[in-house]
Amino acid sequence: MNDASPGPGAVLSGRQRDQARRLLDDAVVRFRGDPVGTVAATDPEAGNQNYDQVFVRDFMPVALYYLAAGEPGIVRHFLARTREMQASERSLTGQQPGAGLIPASFKVGDDGALVPDYGGNAIGRVAPVDSSLWWLYLLRVYTEVTGDRSLAAGPEFQQAIKRILELCLVSRFDMYPTLLVPDGSFMVDRRLGVYGNPLEIQVLFYMALRAAEELLGEADDGWIYREAVQERMGMLLYYLRTYYWLDLPRLNQIHRFATEEYGPDAVNAFNIVPESVPTWLPDWLPEPGGFFVGNLGPARMDFRFFSQGNLLAVLSGLAGERLAGEIMALVAAKAGDLIAEMPMKLCYPALEGEDWRIMTGSDGKNVPWSYHNAGSWPVLTWLLAAAGHRTGGTQVAERALAAAADRLERTDWPEYFDGRRGRLVGKEAHCFQSWTAAGVLLADHLLADPSLLDAAAFADDVTPIECSV
Ligand code: GLC
Repeated sequence: MNDASPGPGAVLSGRQRDQARRLLDDAVVRFRGDPVGTVAATDPEAGNQNYDQVFVRDFMPVALYYLAAGEPGIVRHFLARTREMQASERSLTGQQPGAGLIPASFKVGDDGALVPDYGGNAIGRVAPVDSSLWWLYLLRVYTEVTGDRSLAAGPEFQQAIKRILELCLVSRFDMYPTLLVPDGSFMVDRRLGVYGNPLEIQVLFYMALRAAEELLGEADDGWIYREAVQERMGMLLYYLRTYYWLDLPRLNQIHRFATEEYGPDAVNAFNIVPESVPTWLPDWLPEPGGFFVGNLGPARMDFRFFSQGNLLAVLSGLAGERLAGEIMALVAAKAGDLIAEMPMKLCYPALEGEDWRIMTGSDGKNVPWSYHNAGSWPVLTWLLAAAGHRTGGTQVAERALAAAADRLERTDWPEYFDGRRGRLVGKEAHCFQSWTAAGVLLADHLLADPSLLDAAAFADDVTPIECSV
């Protein structure tokens, strides 16, 4: 793949594009001669951590970039091999990955076989809830881009889709349409108070359901799954737009909420205590502008802004036209905080002081304004460009990429940046990080040629189904 041309671009220099592209090609992992993914980082100083593995979530922008560049082969092999590694055994011991789970990462072992990690070896033993959801989404994008319906339509892929749906749709203890997950189950794969119903997982769940609806075949019981998917999708849409949405009018309601309401007529169904609204929020929230809050549960609204969940909500149609416009208005109005000098903050603001101590467990890697705790992640630039296209304005993404490109090149494409303005290379960041290069290349490509979005976005055509809590 080394001599392929980097394709069109809008902002990066030819040299920057070549460099980022070479970084990706050098990261390609081969299995029995086929390219099956890219390692997380090719940093020679990466130490004994698992950055030499192919992470499913890290491969997403890489895969989208290769699809945009007209090279779908690696994506097809990735989908086929990860399908083979999907956990398939039902078990009642609680000691095995649940049937349907796609691993967090994998590598080629010493004996030449693929070795998956379902989180059992990961730092903190975190569960990769997002992998299966991303996998379904990628299968949809691959199918749309290539027009190759045969891969997803085959019996083994149909079974894999159904397994993921069973894993997600089964009744559990809670009765919300969202997914209840442990801490650190997505891009934020460490303790950060993101247990429960974090936004990013809910949006990925919505995208996975949309993908499944399109990909499920008619054969056998496919229609039973499709009906279940459609119902859950509509309820999830209603629920997120109703209860997770926050703008100034909604904040005013919350500010005056009554508490301790019992029964079906409760307005403040989750018993959110108005005093839990953080002091930074009322002055920070622009008008127009709004966003989906980071998490919601009993007496708990996490008011932090999480970039990936919000931008995916725009891309997936979950936000609809109006809310998508409000999210992007907020991003533009608050670019000084959310983008500053390196796109883009993973979340805003940082947990500090006692909040940091309690919510992260005194995590030295997640100190305020570093890493997941409001550090800046260049991989998110592609979503900024994609969401910008969706709402009719890419100036913010263009400006952000133009301001960051030289520094990314000079600093060897780090994983993340630190500081309120994102001026410092992350304290423990790996360099030559694949999704940094891919996220930036893909953003550059989308700014010049957004046609991939025909396959990567969803129309806003799902009817919300009212569901009370
Ligand atoms: C970090 C990130 C995680 C990523 C992994 C590999 O653990 O938090 O999202 O998948 O590194 O890059």
